[in-house]
Amino acid sequence: MRPQDVIRKKRDGGQLTKEEINLFVRGVTSGEMADYQASALLMAIFLNGMNDDERLALTEAMLHSGEVLDFSDVPKPKVDKHSTGGVGDKTSLILAPLAAAAGLAVPMISGRGLGHTGGTLDKLEAIPGFRVNLTLAEFRQTLERIGYAMMGQTGTIAPADKKLYALRDVTSTVESIPLISASIMSKKLAEGLDGLVLDVKTGGGAFMKSETDAKALAEALVGIGRGAGVRTVALITDMNQPLGRAVGNRLEVIECVETLRGRGPRDLTELSIELTAQMLIAGEVKKEIEDARDVVRNLLETGAGLEKFRELIEAQGGDAGVIDDYTRMPPAAHEEDLLSESNGYVAKIEAEMIGVASMLLGAGRVRVEDEVDKAVGIVLNKKIGDTVRCGESLLRIHYNGAEKLDEAKQMLRAAFRFSEEKPSPQKLIKAVL
Ligand code: URA
Repeated sequence: MRPQDVIRKKRDGGQLTKEEINLFVRGVTSGEMADYQASALLMAIFLNGMNDDERLALTEAMLHSGEVLDFSDVPKPKVDKHSTGGVGDKTSLILAPLAAAAGLAVPMISGRGLGHTGGTLDKLEAIPGFRVNLTLAEFRQTLERIGYAMMGQTGTIAPADKKLYALRDVTSTVESIPLISASIMSKKLAEGLDGLVLDVKTGGGAFMKSETDAKALAEALVGIGRGAGVRTVALITDMNQPLGRAVGNRLEVIECVETLRGRGPRDLTELSIELTAQMLIAGEVKKEIEDARDVVRNLLETGAGLEKFRELIEAQGGDAGVIDDYTRMPPAAHEEDLLSESNGYVAKIEAEMIGVASMLLGAGRVRVEDEVDKAVGIVLNKKIGDTVRCGESLLRIHYNGAEKLDEAKQMLRAAFRFSEEKPSPQKLIKAVL
């Protein structure tokens, strides 16, 4: 079997066998397959898609290109959550301690932010001393001792994904459901999970702008997870405005702590409860979703989730004192309110523009190698459906350098739309698959 035969088959709309997919993934990982052949096959997949069997075979080949963690000796259900990413999406920091406090083991391997979306690792690193580059032995130890651990990708997990993603990035083949779903699931399945909850975002601030595309991605992800024998559920959730009020790493950590104290914004609290409850169902800790929600609400009320977060910060070398004193995470040098020039209701907040403005302030990355400023960001004072008067604060900007401040302000102002009539409320959780 030659690479050009596999490329031709997919180019002509054929279905690849497991052997053909393995040849491709092995060839890419070992470097035996030339980049131009791998790129041609990626484009053929992009154009002609893949069926359920092909997607599962591609995921499994990518998964087995590297190390697959085995936590079978940890005597708890292993469950994680993955979000397709959005603006102000910080649920991992809230639900992982809650799920651990409820008896799950959560081996969470996360990513960094890129473009308008944030990343869990950058948020955790806003906590002075917090280490995300654990060895696998430290990761396991923390998981066993505390019930969860959070770290970054290692070079040994799904190395095929790293190579393929780099090729997709430069060949305009990123936005393909089979390629996205195999990429996400190969990394998640490497965590040795019993259950997985997927938060597939839809709307202006999401990867998948339309609900139809989000549903197609969710179906592909769930199909792969279940095909691999992992109890998998997907929620399709709204990203037509930032989640919660804070955007920017330090500000988001503070919002997570407030949420774990039971004082978080309504949407962030609701979604965190729902995702954690679904994790408890996926881990078979609870059978009924309403019972699972009660468990989570109780953990918020008693502060047990917050205590788990404190334990994790200490275990991973961070300053847990930040929980009681937010100034231990150095704040930005300046703050400024953006005042409304309109009266009425907030009808729309373009999440992507808020994310880009936050990135301009230094909270996010344009390129993978960029450094981020942990202190800067935005706190929304108004969300969709709120009334607003001329001169009232729409949001507060936390910034250090003023170089891009004007550009960010223009973008933030343009992100808001107003109406005279109260907009009809949007559903936060649009579907569960
Ligand atoms: N996230 C991933 O991990 N992979 C993709 O291809 C897209 C988003």
